Amino acid sequence: PAPAPGFPLPTKHTQKAYDPASDFTSKWTRADAKQIMAQSDSTVKPGENSMSPDVTMPEIPEDFPTMNDDVWVWDTWSLTDEHANQISYKGYDVIFSLVADRHAGYGFDQRHWNARIGYFFRKTNADPAKDKWNYGGHLFLDNTSIGNTEWSGSTRLMKGNQVNVFYTATTFYDVKERNAGGGGIAPDAAIAKALGKIHADENGVTFDGFKHHKLLEPDGKMYQTKEQNPGFAFRDPYTFADPAHPGKTFMVFEGNTGAKRGDYRCKNEDLGYRKGDPNAESLDEVNNSGAYYQTANVGLAVAENKDLTKWKFLPPILSGNCVNDQTERPQIFIQNEGGKNKYYLFTISHQFTYAAGMRGPDGVYGFVGDGVRSDYQPMNNSGLALGSPTDLNLPSESPEAPTPNQNGRQFQAYSHYVQPGGLVQSFIDNVNGVRGGSLSPTVKINFRDGVSQVDRSFGKNGLGPFGYLPTNVSVGGNGLY
Ligand code: FRU
Repeated sequence: PAPAPGFPLPTKHTQKAYDPASDFTSKWTRADAKQIMAQSDSTVKPGENSMSPDVTMPEIPEDFPTMNDDVWVWDTWSLTDEHANQISYKGYDVIFSLVADRHAGYGFDQRHWNARIGYFFRKTNADPAKDKWNYGGHLFLDNTSIGNTEWSGSTRLMKGNQVNVFYTATTFYDVKERNAGGGGIAPDAAIAKALGKIHADENGVTFDGFKHHKLLEPDGKMYQTKEQNPGFAFRDPYTFADPAHPGKTFMVFEGNTGAKRGDYRCKNEDLGYRKGDPNAESLDEVNNSGAYYQTANVGLAVAENKDLTKWKFLPPILSGNCVNDQTERPQIFIQNEGGKNKYYLFTISHQFTYAAGMRGPDGVYGFVGDGVRSDYQPMNNSGLALGSPTDLNLPSESPEAPTPNQNGRQFQAYSHYVQPGGLVQSFIDNVNGVRGGSLSPTVKINFRDGVSQVDRSFGKNGLGPFGYLPTNVSVGGNGLY
């Protein structure tokens, strides 16, 4: 497409694959992310959606159903195998969600400091429009996980009925103060796993026997520590097998560039402008704006034993230095395109974590390349795959304090997760002032060659059933007990 007037051209990315152990880190550049505004409509009435319908999540109705009356539900994932297939186990679909008690006296925005992993199940042949997810309770017994708060991860069915739950073990030292609106002591964060057993019978699904292992803590070189930055991110493990490297298990996770907060300086490769681009920013201009405070990355690690209890850090596969501070819940989704495996890296991000001079919506961002480590091409040139309806001409805000003249759905959903078939699930945060804590209607994106489009023929005007996380592979029989 022709360049938008006044905007720089995006960076050229080759999509070429590198050895996963090499130190090539793909850059989501300022030139790339500037395409979000280049593709946004500057002439909409204040508060309308300024983004293309191809990358805008359809509007969630205000009268959405409550998934569970006792717990708020947010980040959610399915039981999967190492190829991101979603597994029906003995006739049940099983999902895992961060949950927090709705009746404990703290509000929805305090959920993070009180998070536990809960699980839900329903019959695989249930009607997703009518049959509710049954809540199974907390996955782990109280006070057994590493850390005092359980944050996001992924769950894999292993041999027989063994499951490995990879999760973020976050330890807060000031939960009471935080629940009262204060606090600020940096938490500890570790990536952990628990090996346990899944059971299913005519009454439903249960888990037991979990043994917890701490797997990784940030090294301060490739991945920032809490000593370097109290607001660091180290979380959201997702493990997978790569057909190009048989026998190995990899993990992607959310990190920040290792350095003391404020020490990093933006480099030309973080800006990514083409030579002579009249709309390029200068390095000095960007550094003087303080954009170097934002240093997101997507980390990579490789397992060193079959039990997946020993892991080694590899350099990050993607950085968003001087672009954005958070690339959360990364996942690798391999899609065959014309006989060739294309690797899609999806990750969620917020509007309030963008660096100075950058603007984009809350939503899911995607990158495509020829391998797990490659010179990733941002989807749709910008990286944005699906965002909540937002007027990007207005300044950035946070879900706790949206202004009235912004689009009331700018924070309608978050924690988008791309499932087989391009189905994208997420949780409801704030729909026109109505706070969520339930799963969103699932939407569908069609993508190929790094270009994506919301499928508005799916469901009702693009909105599928609420909390639709169907399975595509069955294990352990048909569930007739
Ligand atoms: C995304 C997220 C994750 C984290 C969790 C904590 O919504 O920020 O990165 O694991 O929420 O609640």
